[in-house]
Amino acid sequence: MKAIVIDQPGGPASLKLHEKPDLQPAPGMLTIDVAYAGVGYFEVLLSRGEFTSVFPMPLTPGLEVSGYVRAIGEGVEGFYVGQPVASMTLHHLNGFASMANVRPDLTVPLDQLGADLDLATAAASIVNLTTAYLAIKNVYRMRTGDDILVHAAVGGLGSFLGQVAKHLGAGKVLGTVGSSQKVKLAASFGYDELFVRSDFVEQTLKATGRKGVHAVFDPVGGTMRKQSLEVLRPLGQLVVVGNASGEQDVSHSFNEIWFSNRQLAGFTLGGYSDSNPVETGKAAREALSMLARKEIHAEIHGVYPLENAAEALALLEEKNTVGKLVLQI
Ligand SMILES: NC(=O)c1ccc[n+]([C@@H]2O[C@H](COP(=O)([O-])OP(=O)(O)OC[C@H]3O[C@@H](n4cnc5c(N)ncnc54)[C@H](OP(=O)(O)O)[C@@H]3O)[C@@H](O)[C@H]2O)c1
Repeated sequence: MKAIVIDQPGGPASLKLHEKPDLQPAPGMLTIDVAYAGVGYFEVLLSRGEFTSVFPMPLTPGLEVSGYVRAIGEGVEGFYVGQPVASMTLHHLNGFASMANVRPDLTVPLDQLGADLDLATAAASIVNLTTAYLAIKNVYRMRTGDDILVHAAVGGLGSFLGQVAKHLGAGKVLGTVGSSQKVKLAASFGYDELFVRSDFVEQTLKATGRKGVHAVFDPVGGTMRKQSLEVLRPLGQLVVVGNASGEQDVSHSFNEIWFSNRQLAGFTLGGYSDSNPVETGKAAREALSMLARKEIHAEIHGVYPLENAAEALALLEEKNTVGKLVLQI
């Protein structure tokens, strides 16, 4: 089998293609022939060595894959050889490879969604879409008519947060982007309005009649995270979901949270899926069904062959992508 390996931190250039022995089915796991692997900003950070305490090197990156079931490990039920599936490889990575061993509880059979979903779109979507779905439904528990703001609104995660919120009945869906060229993409991703991030406090207040929003979803982090509290209504919630800016973490006073009637929440799919695999698998099936029924759509920015994985990561570093990149195996 073929696999991308990172031996030492060095950014995208550290990704190398290796030949490895074929995988054998492990008990309790499915082995799949990978057709597509999703690429996200997480892999950029991983290649820089930012998560070596959790994922020591050498490692094969890749949090999400799609393909066909090749072999079924002892004790696994409900799948058949040749079945098209998408899976989240959140705990062991190893998605940038021609074969992967995946957990059945985090695997979605694509022929049971009630409508067709192609393998490239499934691999491009499963992690970010499941994250967006759970963050909106289970973490924030959005009510119909709530006004929300999403940072990095047309990135991989942001492009689903806007659409899922709108589809589930949000009121005004606002978003921030890093450059003025991205502002015109609002309608494609369920946003009523997008603004350039440097001016978002004033723009958000203006767009909401100076009332502010009920929730802010933040995959960017840094100093802007503090400003996000300023655009929340009383009892509004800031949901922290990422740190794409790479900026140092900011601290905040608990007493200030108390006196300002604001709420803070955090969500990470990796940890949640470890403690709640059944709920995560169910959310992934529901979220991918929305995609298959075309209630929302996935934007694929580019498809790269596995051997060009480094090029895909370098493009993400440049911040010029809209939606998602995938590797074709
Ligand atoms: N909580 C979870 O379980 C979960 C799940 C998936 C992803 N995430 C996290 O969410 C974040 C976004 O992931 P993604 O897959 O959506 O990534 P992505 O598709 O690469 O989008 C990231 C966006 O962040 C913005 N950004 C701001 N500062 C940046 C910087 N210094 N470098 C690069 N981009 C920057 C860019 O949008 P603008 O140009 O508009 O600023 C960029 O398009 C990451 O931190 C990722 O780890 C978390």
